[in-house]
Amino acid sequence: MKKRIYLASPHMGGDEIKYINEAFDTNWVAPLGPNVNNFEKEICKYTEAKYATALVSGTSAIHLALKCLSVGEGDVVFCSTLTFAATCNPIIYQGAEPVFIDSDYETWNMCPIALQKAFDDATKNNKMPKAVIVVNLYGQSADYDKLKVICDKYNVPIIEDAAESLGSTYKGKQTGTIGDIGIYSFNGNKIITTSGGGMMVSNNEEYTKKALFWATQARENERHYEHKEIGFNYRMSNVVAGIGRGQIKVLDERIAKKKDIFKIYKEAFKDIDDIEMMNICDFGEPNYWLSVATIKEGCKIKPLDIILALEKENIESRPVWKPMHLQPFFKGYKFFSSLEDGSVSEDLFNRGICLPSDTKMNEDDIQTILDIIVNILESKQMEITYE
Ligand SMILES: Cc1ncc(COP(=O)(O)O)c(C=O)c1O
Repeated sequence: MKKRIYLASPHMGGDEIKYINEAFDTNWVAPLGPNVNNFEKEICKYTEAKYATALVSGTSAIHLALKCLSVGEGDVVFCSTLTFAATCNPIIYQGAEPVFIDSDYETWNMCPIALQKAFDDATKNNKMPKAVIVVNLYGQSADYDKLKVICDKYNVPIIEDAAESLGSTYKGKQTGTIGDIGIYSFNGNKIITTSGGGMMVSNNEEYTKKALFWATQARENERHYEHKEIGFNYRMSNVVAGIGRGQIKVLDERIAKKKDIFKIYKEAFKDIDDIEMMNICDFGEPNYWLSVATIKEGCKIKPLDIILALEKENIESRPVWKPMHLQPFFKGYKFFSSLEDGSVSEDLFNRGICLPSDTKMNEDDIQTILDIIVNILESKQMEITYE
């Protein structure tokens, strides 16, 4: 069996074990402890967010962000449609209603035109959203100046889902710190990982205090166990935070390697009409978490052909996220497209492919991937057989 090449797998820096050992040596194995506090401080230092709360996942961070903004039963939340389900599932946890917003081709992120359409509809129906969740897809920032102007007009706060974009910038600012509340994920395939974990960041002390309270079972400040509100067990453990402390030290190194990978693909595909790398906007510097390409409309080779050809050689790739408005569970909710006909997100889903972007790949690995892709595109044959 050939060595497996992953889409994006955990890549330890070396110091993680030191912090884990410290947790064991001092018996800070239980929740909280110095690694948690220090990891929060290190995230604040890196991103320039004022406050950070370390949590069990990015999903729990989105959930608490919604609670901070008082999203509850019957409320409406606007949300990017081209994303992972974790972005919008917490809207449902809160008994609220998602309204999905299309992408644009430039950023692949929330389209200001579609957002304005959604606000026009909300105005007409007198049903303003309580929050807008904007995703920074595959490590590239959304165009916040354009989105914020609209949200500010209606006085609606932004939750920035920066799960995939830790270390990316928008006009010099770190993503995650541009909206009213930001969230990061340290899931196994993210730019840095804690094996599983997340962080909520903001410049609002009150949000941070509330998030901490809800994340620790909403226990009141009494000697006995007193609960006036529903709480959650969402706090990151001190062992897990130790991995994060080691990982944040190598974040810049990982971003540099991800950028190299993207550049190699871009260069290799520059003379091939049928494949094009995702547009990189000049308003910021992405973390290039995943290198994503689209296959030209009308090309006989489809993303799935490439995915399966790579899989045959034990190489992992995957389709672009299937938009939320097309998911069976979310089908009944409203969707605003940026086009008159069809949608950008659906088109990107149909033509997009996430290429292997693992920072442990060497030049030979990337060459193998390129050979397979170029070969299949140049042959333009469909008679590849799949088991
Ligand atoms: C865009 C996006 N939002 C949210 C999440 C959820 O993060 P987590 O897996 O840490 O809960 C992820 C990734 O998993 C993601 O890619």
